[in-house]
Amino acid sequence: MQLDQIRQIAVIGLGRMGHGIAQAFAMGGYPVRGFDESDDARASLHQRIRGNLEDFARNDILDTAEIDVVLDRIAVADTEAQAAASADFVVEAVAEQLTVKQELFARIEDAVSDETIIASNSSTFTISESSVNMRRPARAVVTHWFNPPHIVPAVEVVPGPDTTEEITETTVALHRKIGKLAVRVNVEIPGFLVNRVQIAMIREVWDLYERGIASREDIDAAIRGSLGFRLAACGPLAICDFGGVDIWATVYQGLAPELRRDTEVPKAIQNLVDDGRCGTRTGSGIHDYDAQNLDDVTSRRDETFLKLAKLLYGTQ
Ligand SMILES: NC(=O)c1ccc[n+]([C@@H]2O[C@H](COP(=O)([O-])OP(=O)(O)OC[C@H]3O[C@@H](n4cnc5c(N)ncnc54)[C@H](O)[C@@H]3O)[C@@H](O)[C@H]2O)c1
Repeated sequence: MQLDQIRQIAVIGLGRMGHGIAQAFAMGGYPVRGFDESDDARASLHQRIRGNLEDFARNDILDTAEIDVVLDRIAVADTEAQAAASADFVVEAVAEQLTVKQELFARIEDAVSDETIIASNSSTFTISESSVNMRRPARAVVTHWFNPPHIVPAVEVVPGPDTTEEITETTVALHRKIGKLAVRVNVEIPGFLVNRVQIAMIREVWDLYERGIASREDIDAAIRGSLGFRLAACGPLAICDFGGVDIWATVYQGLAPELRRDTEVPKAIQNLVDDGRCGTRTGSGIHDYDAQNLDDVTSRRDETFLKLAKLLYGTQ
C-alpha cells in the first residue's frame, strides 16, 4: 500500500484517543468512518469533535468556516465491519486488553481488502502480540499517539518483525501528511520509546514527592520551568551537546547511583490509588478537583497545549 492509494480511514474505538485520532485524519483531509461499541460514544462523536474544533478556531489554528467541513468528513458506522469495509487504513483505539485487540485484529482482517493497513494505538502491546491471530501480520503496525491526540504532535510508528518496510514507510508518510510528527521506532520493545523515558522520569519525580523534597506545586513548577521548557524546543540529545557531553558524563557518574532504582510503586502513590484518588477521572488524585474547576483546568491545559502546538508546529 502506497500513500497515494490511501483514500479512506477507519477508527475503531471512539473514546478519549479514538475521537481525537478521527479528528486529526479529518483535519488532514481524509474521509473517516468511526465505530465504537458504546451507543453514547457513537452518538456524541460529532459533538465532542465540534468542541475540539471550536477550541482550534478560538486559537486561530482553524478557520471557523472549516469546522463543518471537517465534521462532514466524519461518519459514524453502525457496525465495526461497516466502518472498516472500504478503509485503506484502519486504526484501533479500543480498550487496552490484549485478547480484545487480538480478536479485533482478526475480525478487521476479514472485513478489509488484502492491502489495507491495520494499526493499533496500544500504549503497551507490541504489534507482534496484537496481530497474533492475523493471517497477514505483515500489514499490521503500531501507531502510538499521545493524549490529547488531536493536539500533541508526535506519533510513534512501531513495526513488528513481520511488518513490511512498505507498510512502515507508508504509515509514517500518512501521519506526516496530516501534520503529525511521525517518528519511527526501529525495534519493538516494551513501552516503545517515549513511555520508557516518561516512566524513568516519573519514578524519580514520585520519589521526590514521597520524600517531601519539595511540595507538589514546586515539583511541577520546577520541571515545567526547566526541563519542560527546554524540551519543548530542543530534544534531550541535542541538549547534551549544548551542555557539553563530557560534563553530562561526569554528572551522570556522580548522580546516577543516587537515583531511585527499584520497581515498586512508591507508597505515597499506591495509597492514592488504594483510596480511589486516581486523578481527574475520579475527582481527586495528587490534587482535588470539583466539577467546575475540572472544566477550568482541562480548558486551561488544552489552551496552553494549542498555543504551544501553534508556536512550535504550525497547525496541529
Ligand atoms: N489515554 C491515553 O493517554 C492513551 C495514550 C496513548 C494510547 N492509549 C491507548 O489507546 C487505546 C484507547 O484508550 P482511551 O484512553 O481512548 O480509552 P477510552 O476508554 O477513553 O476509549 C476506548 C473506547 O473503546 C470502546 N471499545 C472498547 N472495546 C471496543 C470494541 N471491542 N469495539 C469497539 N469499541 C470498543 C469503548 O466503548 C470506548 O469508547 C488503549 O489501547 C490505550 O492504551 C491511550
